[in-house]
Amino acid sequence: MSKKDISDGLRPLFENNRAWAKRMLKTDPAFFDRLAQQQAPRYLWIGCSDSRVPANQIIGLPPGEVFVHRNVANLVVPTDLNCLTVVEYAIEVLRVEHIMVVGHYGCGGVQTVLSGQRLGLSGHWLHHVEMVRHTYAKQLDAIEQPQQLVDRLCELNALEQVSQLCRLPSVMNAWKREQALTLHGLIYDIHDGLLRKLANPVSSPPDLARWRKSALKSIWSGKSPR
Ligand code: CO
Repeated sequence: MSKKDISDGLRPLFENNRAWAKRMLKTDPAFFDRLAQQQAPRYLWIGCSDSRVPANQIIGLPPGEVFVHRNVANLVVPTDLNCLTVVEYAIEVLRVEHIMVVGHYGCGGVQTVLSGQRLGLSGHWLHHVEMVRHTYAKQLDAIEQPQQLVDRLCELNALEQVSQLCRLPSVMNAWKREQALTLHGLIYDIHDGLLRKLANPVSSPPDLARWRKSALKSIWSGKSPR
């Protein structure tokens, strides 16, 4: 592929970009100058890499307002240096007040696990979702409707990632020094564009057990978000 072809491939994106920057300056001439000085987001979004789940657009926030970490199946893995670094930086340097773990219905990672397909590296990564499936195997195996099965595992996966987050040293330490930090388990519905709570937020360690119990109750009672 020649150099020309490469730039042609991105041409519409450059055009969009220029138009966007122009629009931003029109509404707020100091926008980029201000942002260039520093970022001070109040939120950290941990979500799936899925192109249908773009953080800023879904919650209607402009650049500078939300710190974002995305990976396949929105996982918080305690040995994932990337995720741990994002969480630590968000808490200790940016001092975000809220961390959202955002699962989504129709998640390809979750569907892959349920289909039993195994691919090389992604199979290794998705083992963490497999563990969630394993934890709730009894309840999940009782579900006959395939769509419901995917929905429930998407919810349970997001819930379990909040539990993982609660146990990270950077989160525990923040609570220990009484830094205001609230964790939220959410699920995004690609069918209607709406974000829903899986349970009430958790803002201190003693909340965790209660939080988990109430979130699970709502998932299994059929009163789950979807
Ligand atoms: Co996904």
